[in-house]
Amino acid sequence: MKNLVVWGGRPLEGKVQCDGAKNAALPILAGSLLTNGVTTVSAVPDLADVQTMLALLASIGAEVQDSGGQVQISANRLVPTAPYDLVRKMRASFLVMGPLLVRCGKASIPLPGGCAIGQRPVDLHLKGFEAMGASISMGNGFINASAPRLHGAEIYLDMPSVGATENIIMAACLAHGDTVIDNAAQEPEVVDLANFLNSAGAKVKGAGTSRIRISGVSELSGTAYTIIPDRIEAATYLVAGAITSGKVLVENVIPLHLKSVLAKLSECGFTVIEGYKSVEIHAGSRPKPVSIKTLPYPGFPTDVQAPFAALCSLGQGTTIISETIFENRFGYSEELRRMGASIRIEGANAVIEGVNSLTGAKIQAGDLRAGAALCLAALAAQGISYITGIEHLERGYSRLTEKLRSLGARISSFDDNMDHASGFRG
Ligand code: UD1
Repeated sequence: MKNLVVWGGRPLEGKVQCDGAKNAALPILAGSLLTNGVTTVSAVPDLADVQTMLALLASIGAEVQDSGGQVQISANRLVPTAPYDLVRKMRASFLVMGPLLVRCGKASIPLPGGCAIGQRPVDLHLKGFEAMGASISMGNGFINASAPRLHGAEIYLDMPSVGATENIIMAACLAHGDTVIDNAAQEPEVVDLANFLNSAGAKVKGAGTSRIRISGVSELSGTAYTIIPDRIEAATYLVAGAITSGKVLVENVIPLHLKSVLAKLSECGFTVIEGYKSVEIHAGSRPKPVSIKTLPYPGFPTDVQAPFAALCSLGQGTTIISETIFENRFGYSEELRRMGASIRIEGANAVIEGVNSLTGAKIQAGDLRAGAALCLAALAAQGISYITGIEHLERGYSRLTEKLRSLGARISSFDDNMDHASGFRG
């Protein structure tokens, strides 16, 4: 197991580049199963979750060539059953259900795993497939769907689920007739998936709004597509600049995708400078208290909630963060308290009384964004922090220690059986 050691208390300064978006790469790689011929996807981030998706695609018959950042996929012969060992690692594995169902006429997928941040059911995905004519059954831990030919349908999502919207769009691309999704997720990653599918010959309109219309076509061709930058990674590095009272320029970002996050950083009192494809933050003092409510896009992203909690734990007053998307996303609060933060969880709210400083501690990352929050807190804390559970961080942040070091952080990874000091090269 790998761990992190962080010597905190240094302002981060310099510039850092974002990679392609994990949450766009995963559905787009799943969507490549819909295409005939060779599909090339570029700006694919080097992440554990991406490796899981590539292994999953290969396990169901796709030919996958990964040349580091660029992936070629041909999906000419597919097997409709996904293996438990891969699907249990990552919830986004369930995104192969729609493509497999519409291409093979059936699909069997184990119930998905992923970060333990709430119940995370897949009922909305399944309701969509059923409306399109699929029969769904459960057995031996697998969800089985079958439909000789899916047909278009009018589908209303009870909540704008990102994954359900993506899965239904993919199935609808090759279904017979038109599908309309109402209350669809509007996240930039949904738009990126739609743009990718359209580049392969699909007819998806309205992505980025709450009503998406898909006209089924008989086949999709191979295509070449470059993934959008990762807005969550960008937000994390901006918070790294803010929490350490530093000055960080984040490049390869689309500032429009970060509007809610940038608004909150400005409200915290930091100087935020938007460029064409960059955002810079200058932070001279502790953040002013703010109030944050996570919401579907364009609202404040739930994936940036934990990093902001770390930031606001050093605030000049009381911040209240309301989590409305996932029911179990304050798992980091106990660990932040070990570092001296004052956080009280009241139902779906975190009440954070800002403190003057945090101190280094031994802490455990319980999920991906909680891990990011702890790493950020450790960068700002006085003294040394040891963070275990960083396999969670590797699911969503590529070359994290390298990028943070380039900003002046003293951070290193070390194995369980290694003396942490010998692992430090910073
Ligand atoms: C995606 C992102 C994740 C992000 C989340 C919300 C990927 C790979 N992951 O996850 O990083 O935190 O969006 O922005 O893109 N729900 C149901 N039934 C369903 C599906 C979802 O009740 O069938 C609920 C979930 O439990 C949750 C809410 O809907 O409370 C949002 O989930 P969803 O948007 O589906 O998140 P994911 O696609 O899993």
